[in-house]
Amino acid sequence: MKWTRSNQAELIDGKSVAAEIRAELKDEIVEFASNGQRPPHLTAILVGDDVASHTYVKNKMQAAKDVGITSCTKNLPATITEQELLNIINELNNDDSVDGILVQLPVPEHINERTICNAVSYLKDVDGFNEVNMGRMCLDMESMIPCTPLGVLELIKRWKIDTFGKSVVVVGRSKNVGMPIAMLMHADGKNQKSAMDATVTICHRYTPLKELAKYCKLADIIITATGVPSLIKADMVKEGACVIDVGITRITDEEGRAKLVGDVDFEAVRKVASCITPVPGGVGPMTVAMLMRNTLTAAKNLMNRQNGPNQ
Ligand code: GUN
Repeated sequence: MKWTRSNQAELIDGKSVAAEIRAELKDEIVEFASNGQRPPHLTAILVGDDVASHTYVKNKMQAAKDVGITSCTKNLPATITEQELLNIINELNNDDSVDGILVQLPVPEHINERTICNAVSYLKDVDGFNEVNMGRMCLDMESMIPCTPLGVLELIKRWKIDTFGKSVVVVGRSKNVGMPIAMLMHADGKNQKSAMDATVTICHRYTPLKELAKYCKLADIIITATGVPSLIKADMVKEGACVIDVGITRITDEEGRAKLVGDVDFEAVRKVASCITPVPGGVGPMTVAMLMRNTLTAAKNLMNRQNGPNQ
């Protein structure tokens, strides 16, 4: 762990760690497919015309191709009914040529997101959003873990950031990001999860700013996932802390240029922290790499079920 510091925090290079993971996956997939097994297959469902969602899905499909995962995207109109969408998911659940299914979020407002996430078979749920996977994750059981939390966990492990007994503040309590990160960071490793063994505090939109500052200032590790640019200021960060920025917001800068920023006042916090993730290039690439990891896991699980005694 890097608890000492120089003038500027070390950059935690998620891009290079993600590249390393993708290279490992590529080899594993070659091996997986070497004895007549078809390569893993991922199907993405994209409902409507949200520009950002289209970009995200395109990037995921490109990443799949790069590691040897076959993929397809089902583009569906925003007017599709919930029942029609459920029927399509059901077909994919029963299709043995599909290992992983993801429904890009958000879905249009007339469709219940929870109903959709629960409809994806928990075995093919590469996003880890199904209630079975969420519940199993909270119990430290083997499960598909949501990609961004898994990416944060993997980045912390591979960057050798010590978490044992450390104080972690998670800023943001969303069910898909903040909550799973908090669950993973305090896990004791007695069951099927990595032992992270941190003392975890969760702050959220109703934590008064003064309290947020107080909790953050005590933290050895701040993990922020709010989508509020510059929420985390330098005077809220303990000297030598580690800062993981999961936020990603598109803003227009003073010169009128579009730019992606995180939750952290990066340049100022960099002078106080010992290590920090940049945005972009920190957690983002890890999320996509973990989607590939989950797809391979789903493919292996499906193969084992097909070859197992209770086919
Ligand atoms: N929308 C924003 N992040 C995600 C994600 O991780 N998975 C899906 N399916 N949709 C998203």
